[in-house]
Amino acid sequence: MTVAVGGASVAERVVAWQATHGRNHLPWQQTRDPYRVWLSEIMLQQTQVNTVLDYYARFLDRFPDVAVLAQATQDEVLGLWSGLGYYSRARNLHRCAQMVVSEHGGAFPKTAEVLVLLPGIGRSTAGAIAAFCFSQQVSILDANVRRVLTRVLGFKEDLASARNERLLWDHAESLLPQQDLETAMPRYTQGLMDLGAAICTPRAPRCDQCPLSGLCAARKEGAPERYPVKTRRLLRKSESWQLLVLQDQQGRVWLERRPPTGIWAGMHCVPVFPDVSSMAAFVATLGNSLQLVHEELPPFLHVLTHRDLHLHPVAIRGVQLDRPLGEGEWLSPDQWDRVGLPTPVRKLLSGTQASLL
Ligand code: ADE
Repeated sequence: MTVAVGGASVAERVVAWQATHGRNHLPWQQTRDPYRVWLSEIMLQQTQVNTVLDYYARFLDRFPDVAVLAQATQDEVLGLWSGLGYYSRARNLHRCAQMVVSEHGGAFPKTAEVLVLLPGIGRSTAGAIAAFCFSQQVSILDANVRRVLTRVLGFKEDLASARNERLLWDHAESLLPQQDLETAMPRYTQGLMDLGAAICTPRAPRCDQCPLSGLCAARKEGAPERYPVKTRRLLRKSESWQLLVLQDQQGRVWLERRPPTGIWAGMHCVPVFPDVSSMAAFVATLGNSLQLVHEELPPFLHVLTHRDLHLHPVAIRGVQLDRPLGEGEWLSPDQWDRVGLPTPVRKLLSGTQASLL
């Protein structure tokens, strides 16, 4: 593998291109405050820019700095995150804020090497924060940037192997800007992200608009879409869950907190059962079951990263109990927004709300 560096280097080209063609007006680009940059990077890890914009503004409104976020309850953080998905990000975000306060005196560390020790901050996110806020000469390598760099370099090794992944990190470091780091590092970092998002797309990349096309090994080979090379397939599993929507005579729904690990950890949810018989056994304990009417709602599929969840909701209305149901609480529709509800559960409850009430 050879890297052609005739004329301007990769870094110089990316920096110049970013200034005129990149994104420069996103809200998290108007600051070098690591709290704001960190928050944006965590939100952007698995979510599109357009979706993040509203959440980002709402979060900053409620949690203007890391100390306020650290003091919030996990429920409130999950509530504001509700709809963004991948809720471990929100739990780590909260833990990270608490650690920044308790172990770093409320100031984010200034190097990628220390940032990466915090919950939810991987090597690439640590690099992005350090480059954007502190102009550290350090690389990022998220999925978009991996695509750009494997193509430019013609990097054919299989990224399913940790060794090859490390090798690509080494290449990424060797391409970093060497001068004017104060301005070049944030620009270069954003430029790689922008190229990956707008030009060097997974399919039909816009090579004619790419500042790196003259240096790009994949372009020379004529098949940029072959990169990156990664063989391992995601092993998907499928599960079937019964969801029990219990509603009392005041229109409140019974919600329990999910266990601290696993799917929807720490969020509020209607009771979940692995099969119909365990749900029936639970319903039998409600007493006055003769008067309770079960209503089977349409089943639906919810796709998670590693799992397909086949959800089978059943509603029982007008429940009136003379004793607590166990760990959980009856929450009315206006309270649902204040706790973290997984998106499919929130949709299920708002969809059935009209018919339930
Ligand atoms: N994705 C991850 N970080 C980003 C950023 N700073 N701007 C746009 N998209 C991103």
